[in-house]
Amino acid sequence: MTDHPVASQWTNPLRDPEDRRLPRIAGPCSMVLFGVTGDLARKKVMPAIYDLANRGFLPPGFSLVGYARRDWADQDFAQIVHDSVKEHSRTEFREEVWRQLAEGFRFVQGDFADDLAFNTLRRTLEELDEARGTGGNHAFYLSIPPKFFGDVVQQLQEHGLAESENDAWRRVVVEKPFGHDLTSAQELNASLDGVFRPESVFRIDHYLGKETVQNILAMRFANNLFEPIWNGNYVDHVQITMAEDIGIGSRAGYYDGIGAARDVIQNHLMQLMALVAMEEPASFDAGALRYEKQKVLSSVVLPRRLDLTTSRGQYTAGWAGGEKVVGYLDEQDIPTSSHTDTFAAITLHVETRRWAGVPFYLRTGKRLGRRVTEVAVVFKRAPHLPFNATQTEDLTHNALVIRVQPDEGVTIRFGSKVPGTAMEIRDVNMDFAYGGTFTEASPEAYEKLILDVLLGDPPLFPQHEEVELSWKILDPILEYWAEHGKPDQYESGTWGPESADEMLARSGRVWRRP
Ligand code: BG6
Repeated sequence: MTDHPVASQWTNPLRDPEDRRLPRIAGPCSMVLFGVTGDLARKKVMPAIYDLANRGFLPPGFSLVGYARRDWADQDFAQIVHDSVKEHSRTEFREEVWRQLAEGFRFVQGDFADDLAFNTLRRTLEELDEARGTGGNHAFYLSIPPKFFGDVVQQLQEHGLAESENDAWRRVVVEKPFGHDLTSAQELNASLDGVFRPESVFRIDHYLGKETVQNILAMRFANNLFEPIWNGNYVDHVQITMAEDIGIGSRAGYYDGIGAARDVIQNHLMQLMALVAMEEPASFDAGALRYEKQKVLSSVVLPRRLDLTTSRGQYTAGWAGGEKVVGYLDEQDIPTSSHTDTFAAITLHVETRRWAGVPFYLRTGKRLGRRVTEVAVVFKRAPHLPFNATQTEDLTHNALVIRVQPDEGVTIRFGSKVPGTAMEIRDVNMDFAYGGTFTEASPEAYEKLILDVLLGDPPLFPQHEEVELSWKILDPILEYWAEHGKPDQYESGTWGPESADEMLARSGRVWRRP
């Protein structure tokens, strides 16, 4: 009689784990969503789950459990998801995908201190394990204000939901703001790490889920072209801009007292800076990537004079997107005495051999000229120009611009001779556009990140060290601002306060008009 290997030992010789045709499909699991009525859940999380299902990345038994105070039945919750998917999903609505997904919807009513409700949640998950084969694998997505993180993870622990048995997993997903300064971030991290193992905590910085942001790693480390000039010998400075034309909308409760620097610079822009400035990682696994990013963040030094090297602003009435809009202080629920910054620009130095002497300028704002996020690496002028001054009058600095959004792509700016009899040189652009190069549209950041959570793939999620290092950089600036006056005003639809231009002009530089 021949020996047959048992099924679990058998490996399919035709299946190569490196085969790129094999899609990365999540294994059996469910996701519990706290904060189902919030903007984030409705505009980003629910549509991304549908898009993943539609693209075939979720297992057939995938289940979504909503947890909220509302007195809803499973069908009411399903209706909310349905409306959000119809309105915000990226891919087309297909009835058969929807029906299969909706079979796994459950709703649990309760607040965050409700023991009975967490018991019901546990029973619901056990029922899903039985009926839909979710295998004890559950992700808890806390789409709720951070002040409730501690309560919810405590409840999960007390009801035996945070611990997994055998090979099953439990993960918790949190969204920024991770605190409002270093101390509060440390407290928040301690409350999460006290319950979940660090590798089971997934902190979402949705910029890292964007295709164009991941492409920074591909561009830098898959090519030979950029590395030799990616340092202070050639780079004059780096500008990282995240501009929005929208105001604060209905987010007064979240935004006032937080402001632009905490909302965007502490997380998205510092992550972009780390990716631009980091050394080549030993591999692309989470540990190696984080190690290099942390090295950058711990090498950051602030300029001595924060009055001359930072700028903050608050929008006043003006025109945005062809409409007349009110100023920040006239937005609904904003106190007229508010000193919250809606624009912030800062200067950072990365004190390493590669970047010594190269300032990194980070700026963000609401109600600016248009919505655009870009990283511009601006190069030094050629050390010698064998032309006379008038011939190069229209030549500025060479630059490499990574267009994160919209019009995703990369532009290289350099000087070229203008056709004609005279030698006249001016800036031209060489362009790579995603739209004209790839046929497939980029997935939404949340699709990528939610799938990574379900797969347990951590490289795109910052650990608490990175979060705390970023606060360490920003805290002295925030303290300086708190003690010195108030934000400068800028008219809606412009590119920020004059103080931002002055900040760069002091070293003879100008902001790019993206
Ligand atoms: C969020 C900020 O993190 O990013 C918002 O809290 C901002 O204030 C948003 O509007 C912008 O995201 P995106 O992907 O549209 O650039």
